[in-house]
Parts: sequence; structure tokens; C-alpha cells
Amino acid sequence: MSPYVTMPLVFEGVPEAEMQGRADAFLARMRKRRTVRDFSDRPVPRELIETAVRVAGTAPSGANQQPWSFVCISDAQRKKLIREGAEEEERAFYAGRAGEEWLDALAHLGTDDQKPFLETAPWLIAIFAQRWGHDAEGNRIKHYYVPESVGIATGFLIAALHDAGLATLTHTPAPMNFLNELCGRPDNEKALILLVVGYPKEGCLVPAIGKKPLEEIATFL
Ligand SMILES: Cc1cc2nc3c(=O)[nH]c(=O)nc-3n(C[C@H](O)[C@H](O)[C@H](O)COP(=O)(O)O)c2cc1C
Repeated sequence: MSPYVTMPLVFEGVPEAEMQGRADAFLARMRKRRTVRDFSDRPVPRELIETAVRVAGTAPSGANQQPWSFVCISDAQRKKLIREGAEEEERAFYAGRAGEEWLDALAHLGTDDQKPFLETAPWLIAIFAQRWGHDAEGNRIKHYYVPESVGIATGFLIAALHDAGLATLTHTPAPMNFLNELCGRPDNEKALILLVVGYPKEGCLVPAIGKKPLEEIATFL
């Protein structure tokens, strides 16, 4: 067991008079995020991706185990293979594996089994959850709250990319086992999300959908 060692907290407070303005500005910025499915091939510098992944890496996690791996792919050949793997799964999904109820729920998004953006977009970030880890001697160690931790880190990542001026698509071709081999990840890792990153294509359209109001999503007791 590791010892409990402390250090002073570095807490950068915000003057009270500025707090609501900062919160409102962040809300306005986040309200402009939309999932994009029509990407341009305009390149994105690797450094921007690295910075966003660093932001993801600051996320809280169960027992600080940081049970995530972010595989950042810009190589055209690998993107092509990922597209082929995803479209194979998606063909089966849309041809019946999903079931009528799921396909009905997706109908308003206009999605289908064609995923050209997996090749067009400059970056794919395959996000893996480490179901278990290894200690310094290579012994298997249990990880706690893995999906919760990886979900939070992914939220940080999406927000960081959006804030940097990039568009994303949270893609989940199911099942995603094919990504382990294509990304060279070990068996203890499970692909959770394939994040597509880049710029929207000129004239890109998105589904006309809205978000639930505060009254519907929050209760104050
Ligand atoms: C866990 C998760 C999985 C998703 N999987 C897909 C997907 O496989 N394909 C897709 O086109 N969109 C996918 N989406 C995107 C959602 O459809 C999208 O977030 C939702 O319609 C709301 O739109 P917005 O992101 O523009 O607010 C996924 C989103 C989440 C959070």
C-alpha cells in the first residue's frame, strides 16, 4: 500500500464578482458544441491533440488509477483499416443487429452504415478503458470505477477540443474489439469510444435537436 503523503493545494480562486460571468461564458461556449458527421480533410497540428489529451489526463479517476489509453491516429492507412472495421460492424448493426427500437431512436440523427469521416477527418482518438492494470512486478491489479473514470476523461477531452476550435464526433461502432488489434492495445483494454476530430466541412449540416432545460435535468433540494 502506498503511504499517504500530502502537499499544499494550489487553488486559483476567481474573484466573486467575476464568478457568474465566467460560468455564463463557459455555458455559452459549450452550447456551441455539436457532434459533426461531415468533416473536412484540413490538417490539425499534432500539438493541439497532445494538449487536449493532456487535459483529459487531468480528470479525476477511481483511486487515481487513470485507467485510460488514448490512441491518436493520423496515419491514412490505419484510418482506412479502422473505417473498414467500423463499417463492417455498422452494416450488421443497421441490417438488424440493433433491433427496431434502437434504430427508431437513431432515426432523427440520419446516421447509416457509411463512415467516410473515419478517413476524411485528420485525427481519430481511440479511447480505451483499462479493465485491470499491472503493478511494478507485473501482477494484475484491480481497477475501480473504470467506465465512470474514462467517461469523465472523455468529457474533458471533448470540451478541450471544442474549446480549441475543433469539432468532434463521439463514435461507437459496436462491438469495437477490432480496434485492439488495429491500435496495438492489450487484452486488458476495452475500446469505449472512437472520437473523430477535425474541422467541419464547409456547409456542414447537423440534426435540428435541442437540449433539455434545467428544470428537466436538475432538482434542488
Ligand atoms: C456514448 C455515445 C455514443 C455515441 N455514438 C455515436 C455513434 O456511434 N454514431 C454517431 O453518429 N453519433 C454517436 N453519438 C453522438 C450522439 O448521437 C450525439 O451526441 C447526440 O445526438 C447529441 O448531439 P450533439 O452532440 O450535437 O449535442 C454518440 C454519443 C455518445 C455520448
